[in-house]
Amino acid sequence: MEFIKVTEQYQPGIALIQLNRPKELNALNKQLMEEVRDTLQLLDKNEEVRVIIITGDERAFAAGADIKQMANKSAIDMLLIDQFSTWDQIRKTKKPIIAAVSGFALGGGCEFAMMCDMIIASETAKFGQPEIKIGTIPGAGGTQRLTKAVGKAKAMELILTGRFISAEEAHFYGLVNKVVPVEMYLHEAVELAKEIAQLSPVAVQLAKEAINRSFETQLDEGLAFERKNFYLTFASADQKEGMNAFVEKRKPSFTGR
Ligand code: CAA
Repeated sequence: MEFIKVTEQYQPGIALIQLNRPKELNALNKQLMEEVRDTLQLLDKNEEVRVIIITGDERAFAAGADIKQMANKSAIDMLLIDQFSTWDQIRKTKKPIIAAVSGFALGGGCEFAMMCDMIIASETAKFGQPEIKIGTIPGAGGTQRLTKAVGKAKAMELILTGRFISAEEAHFYGLVNKVVPVEMYLHEAVELAKEIAQLSPVAVQLAKEAINRSFETQLDEGLAFERKNFYLTFASADQKEGMNAFVEKRKPSFTGR
């Protein structure tokens, strides 16, 4: 594994996946997500593992999909690479997954945290869907999961402005389970995992499946719709401008084309 660190028995019954591209704020490139998917598939089959924790580091859970990898792709490239199909496999994980989030959880990073089953956040965590600022839209579930988590009005505000919210605000809106001091967020996630790890793994799996069913019957359609629109933004000059401006460290100038 190049971009993640895996500890199968971080604590008895609890596996830890740490995203490990610190210099890029754990930007989620295609290979990183494939490594996460392959690891989750193995952990799902491992009877010694009851609960999985996914974390980043103190500065960033993940600052989004890798903009440098995508910046100059065409809509057809995006459609053919279809990198977010890996995410569909990740969300099929049967065991409970807790995201332990500190620092930035932005764009794909926020979407990844929301794809987990519960979120423990440090006081320093910042959540947001800033894709609009680089001329595109969320492409890995943000328009669907954020709306379901925080409601339409707040989702509109966050996705249409690209604003970030603090851990406290995210807690207020029901996006995260608990906010704790930065030195405690992983510990708190482990405590939550321990409680679940003692229970019947069969019942836990079935309960998770049933809770997800409460909204996933309509999710497939929403995700497919969102993804097509995300790929479509790659046909616009504004996406090229937005992402290249980011890479070149300058302000974007959008033309509406
Ligand atoms: N992709 C690629 N590289 C990224 C990145 C990303 N999403 N986010 C940060 N990085 C890189 C930066 O380019 C920088 O690399 P260099 O040192 O080589 O220049 C390094 O990580 C550190 O970042 P900054 O210097 O920018 O750190 P900062 O503290 O000044 O700012 C930040 C932090 C506010 C998170 C800023 O990095 C930022 O705005 N990142 C992009 C956030 C974003 O737009 N995310 C959405 C991506 S698109 C998406 O996710 C689509 C989807 O729905 C799946």
